[in-house]
This record gives sequence, structure tokens and C-alpha cells, in this order.
Amino acid sequence: MNHQNSAEFEQLNSIKSELARLNYAYYVLDAPIESDAYYDELYQKLKSIEEQFPEWVTADSPTQRIGGQPLEQFESVTHSKQMFSLENAFSNEDMQAFIKRIQERLEVSSDTLEFVAEPKMDGLAISIRYENGVLVQAATRGDGVTGEDVTHNIRTIRSIPLKLFTANSSKNNSRHESELEPPQVLEVRGEIFMSKTSFENLNKKQAELGQKTFANPRNAAAGTLRQLDSKIAAKRNLSLYLYGWGEISDDYQWPETYAEVLTQLKKWGLPTHPLADTLIGLDAIEDYYDRLQAQRNALPYEIDGIVYKLNKIKGQETLGFTSKAPRWAIARKFPAQEVWTELLGIDIQVGRTGALTPVARLKPVEVGGVVVSNATLHNLDEIQRKDTRVGDWVIVRRAGDVIPEVVGPVLAKRKSELAQFEMPEACPVCNSEVIKEEDKAVYRCSGGLFCPAQAKRALQHFVSRKAMDIQGLGNKLINQLNDRGLLKHPNDFYALTIEQLAELDRMAVKSATNVIQAIEASKETTLQRFLFSLGIPEVGEVTAKNLANHFKSLDKVMEASLEALIEVDDVGDIVAHHIETFFAQPHNQEVIQGLIHAGIHWPEITDKTETNAALAENPFFGKTVVITGTLETMGRSDAKAHFEALGAKVTGSVSKKTDYLLAGEKAGSKLSKAESLGVTVLSEQLFISQIEALN
Ligand code: IVH
Repeated sequence: MNHQNSAEFEQLNSIKSELARLNYAYYVLDAPIESDAYYDELYQKLKSIEEQFPEWVTADSPTQRIGGQPLEQFESVTHSKQMFSLENAFSNEDMQAFIKRIQERLEVSSDTLEFVAEPKMDGLAISIRYENGVLVQAATRGDGVTGEDVTHNIRTIRSIPLKLFTANSSKNNSRHESELEPPQVLEVRGEIFMSKTSFENLNKKQAELGQKTFANPRNAAAGTLRQLDSKIAAKRNLSLYLYGWGEISDDYQWPETYAEVLTQLKKWGLPTHPLADTLIGLDAIEDYYDRLQAQRNALPYEIDGIVYKLNKIKGQETLGFTSKAPRWAIARKFPAQEVWTELLGIDIQVGRTGALTPVARLKPVEVGGVVVSNATLHNLDEIQRKDTRVGDWVIVRRAGDVIPEVVGPVLAKRKSELAQFEMPEACPVCNSEVIKEEDKAVYRCSGGLFCPAQAKRALQHFVSRKAMDIQGLGNKLINQLNDRGLLKHPNDFYALTIEQLAELDRMAVKSATNVIQAIEASKETTLQRFLFSLGIPEVGEVTAKNLANHFKSLDKVMEASLEALIEVDDVGDIVAHHIETFFAQPHNQEVIQGLIHAGIHWPEITDKTETNAALAENPFFGKTVVITGTLETMGRSDAKAHFEALGAKVTGSVSKKTDYLLAGEKAGSKLSKAESLGVTVLSEQLFISQIEALN
């Protein structure tokens, strides 16, 4: 390097350490100290210096996180020190036994033993090797002796420093140089994982691209680590916490406790678990477990238990290892949130709206601490996309209060040909036809009036204000009547007696009489209201009105073909299909006949009431009307329907544009305003005589 270039070289090094510092604050401490724009600016500057002097590009440069060409294959790596697993504890008794064993072997009393507790991350173990402070290799655990070289992917994880912080690279000059200088060889070990959010985002993207989704964050992390192309790993946001070590240069003075090791790792810029804590005594150990278990679902990553480690490293050395695990550490497991079991069948539940939902019937299995024999499969799309079939082994998941779900089948365990699942063509509850809502992937029973699964909702809708408007029949009363078998379908309303009603909770003869009178009064209605009250999917007030005006008679609506229905304003293919299927169900027809038989009737819709010359002659045609006060013989919505049938527009407030005000009892401010504006005021009596004259 010549003299002129030395300034650039210095700048390059200072940018590298500044970027490492910003990176650490952002990815390890989760506390950014500069804006992204500032980072980008430095990064671009570094890139341009490196382009100018390619010979200065080193492996620890932030520009070198993502490698060039994808690998052909993975190289195997023999671990210089074996990577161990852990013994499991499933109860406080197991923990007690673990502590007792250590006490006996070390000949100490439990009170003096210190443990470090940290969450057991649900991911994959990794060993990362630094030489002279620079990351040189990363390998998976494999069988503990030999793993796979995944350096290219590990380098993409932004919380892992490519170069350790040392006295020179740290801004904090108060530390002793010797404290920060890492050993010549340093192997650190920890867990690679994917956060819940990254996992969900990844699965969403995979599904959009029609590619395989992952059953859980752990599988997603494993799948990512096993990519030959580091560009893929770079996009997927893996994370890491370190909790151990492998080979370390002999001459290095290693700390005396595990807690101090964690502190030392942090000083080198390596990520360790922020929830690690030093504890003394069984109570503290149990307490930490309880606390973390309560926090478990709220954590941004998955944990499957707590790892407790003896703090004193001398003690660890005295205890040593079994062939598989250290004697000085144990994993206290949480109840599993994900288990495998057999899918015995797929039941169909019919909801209150008639929607059909497939539900998994499982061989009972304990998951998340409770025995589960049913779980949601979500919908048919999910079942088909994941190819879940009855007879499969399935992954069942239950996290916290969330309802248990089937994550997907374990295809490797499928031994024989199994039939694909299909939705039934008839409702399993009432045998009516099932129709698929094209755009919504929802399957729905078309027996709305008859289907027992939909009864309560259908009955509540039938009596509602804009439908048959039966006052005094609240949801509670309807539910009671339905539960007692007195009210199954809407036509049953008209067979109820005062005695039956008076027997119900919080009812007496007087209130029962009022309800029966309201039921009786509802018999006089309009075709529009009647059609709306049937609860045909997608048929709201407006569509009901359009149907009534178009066909003018119930029979014609019921007989209408798809083509004829599509002629009606506001009715498209889907709605037409709903209407046609609804009226085609024999059970629905029976209920409708029952209603007509009970005496429900409406004024004939004649040409007089339609938009023709005769209609245009009535005094309300094209006028704007406001209704106020209490009407004696009809509800306000009845009055509104009458006006609308005459071609008037009913609005809510009086203005200069108002032509008529229909004023009932106790009319207030609207009446005085109308009078002051000179609006014609109609009494209820006058209005009724006008209607009668028109008919
Ligand atoms: S200590 C010799 N600490 O759990 C030390 N392991 O079931 C052995 N794990 O293979 C590991 N979080 O992959 C340790 N805080 C933690 C851990 C942890 C997750 C994993 C690790 C290990 C497995 C054993």
C-alpha cells in the first residue's frame, strides 16, 4: 500500500468497526443507536472503497455476509469437542433428584449451589469457530461428533459478529485490553432459531409462491440452515443465542463461572439470552420455571423448557459428562405444545350461519398439558393444500389458550393409500343441499329455515324488527323455547300458546299475552318483509324488496329460474344461486307452507303500487317524507314501507326539501320545525285513510 492510499485504508477500517458497532446495537441489543440511513451511507462508502481496492476485501467485512455462488454440497465437519445433548426433567421431583445427585457427588449442601437458568430455545444447535477473533467456520450438531459446514448461512445472521469486539475495535476504552482479547481459537455454541413473526411471514410467502410451508419455526430454521444458497438464508431472518463453548486455546484464562462466561461472550459482541438468571435453591428454580411458563406464549420465539446449569465451572468439570449429556445441566421441559397422533376421522360441524367446518377427530393425546381429541383443520382449502387424509398421523398443536389445531400430516408415516377428503354434498344435520360460496371457499347448508343447527339464529332473525317485527320475543326467550322443543322452525311461533309462554323464566300471563298478540299482529305483513325474514344467505332488505317488486308474488319468487332471478336488480350469480337452492329444499318449502297456513299474508302487489302511471298519480309519488312520534296502528318501519311502496323517499330529518311529515303521538322538535317551514303535516289517521283510498 502506498502512502497516498493509507488514509483510505484507515477509513475502511474505521467504517468496518463502526458498522459492527451499529449492527450489534441493532441486532443483539435490539436498541438502534443510529438511523438506517446513516448505516446505509456508511455501508455504501465501504463498498465503494472496496471496489476501488479489491485487495482490501476481507472475510470479516460487512459486505461479505452473503456469499457468491451456491455450494454444490455440504462438507462435513468433525467437532473438535463433542456436542452434547441434555437430560430431561419433567417435574419438580425430577429437579429435586437432579440437585440431590449433584450435591452428593460434590459433597455440598443444596443452599450453596448456584445454577444459571435460561430458556431452552426450540431450534438447532450450532458451533461457531473464531480464529484470532474472526469467524472462520460454523457447523451443525449432526450426531454430536460430526456435523455439516453451514458457515455460508451462519454468516448471513446479522446478530453474529464476523469479527469479535476487541480492545481496538471497541469504543469503550475503559475495559482492559486483556479482558477483551479473545483466545486465538474460540468455539462458541448456541441455538439457531426463527422468531414466530419471521416464521409466519415465511410461511405466508411460501404459500403465495405455491411452495412447501413449514410445520413450525424449528423446521423452518432447519430448512433454512440446510440451504446451499446463502441468499435464501439471508432473506429468512434466523436468530441465535449462545450458551456454551467447544475448543478454546489452552493458554486462555477462562472465567470461573458460567454467568461470567455469558458476560464475557457479550463483551465480544456475541448474543446470549437476555433472560438468563443466576439462582440459588429449589424454590428459586421452580419460581423461574413458573414465571417463564406464564410468559411462554407472549415471547417472540418458541421455547420448550428451561435449561439449568451449575454455575461453577470447576464443579462442572468434576461432574463431567455421560456419553450423551453433561451431569451438571438439565432441561426442565414444558408440556409439549406439539404432538403427533392419528387422525381417526373428519367430522363436519354446522355453525349458526349454516357454514360447514371440518373438525379433526383424533386419537386422544396430551398436548399443552391437556388431553385433546378434537382439533380444528381450518377449512377445506387447508386440508387440500396440506393433503391431510383420514388415517394419517398428524401434527397437533395447542399453544396456550389457542384452540388445538392440526398443523398437517406426517407424510413420512403414511403407509397405505388413503382417500382424499371431500366435503359432503348434504348437510350432516338436516340433509339439505350444501352449496359452495364460489369466492369465499365457504360451504354452507341451504336448509336455513329447517336446519336444527341454524334454528336459533334463523328464529331470532325471523322476529327481528326489519323482518316480521314481533315485539317482546328476545333472544333469551327464543333460546328457551328452542331448548324446550317448543320452537324448531318459524312456523312454530304461530302455534305457541299463552300457557306455554307463561311458564318460561321471567314470564307471566300478562307478558305472555302481549307476546301472543304481537305474534298474531305479525301475520299482517308485506312480501318484502316476509322474504327478508326467511334468512336466505346474501338476501338483505334491499334484495328482498327488489325480489318482491319484481315478481310480485311469493309463488313466482319460489319458482324463478336462475336466469329469471338474475334479471332482478342487485341479484348476481351467487345470490341467484342461493335463492334458487334455498327454495328448492323440500324442508324449507314445508316451513314456508306452514307459515302461509298459519295466516301470514300481505297486500297484493298490484300495478297500482308499482312504478307505472297509476302509481305516479298518488300524492306521495316522488315526494320526500319524514316520520316522527309514536304511531298507534303501525310501526315506523311499516309506515316507511307503505311510503316506499307508493314511490316516496323516507328520510330522517326535516328540511326545506321535506314534502310531508307523518306525525304520531308525542311528536317533538321535528313537528315544530316542519310547521315553521310550512311542510304538510299528516296525522296517522289521515295517512291511513289516504292509503285506503288509493287501494
Ligand atoms: S446446553 C453441554 N442450553 O437443547 C451443553 N442447550 O435438548 C448442552 N438448547 O442440544 C446444551 N437451549 O440444542 C443448552 N439454553 C440452552 C439451550 C440448549 C436450547 C438445545 C440444544 C441441546 C438441546 C438438548
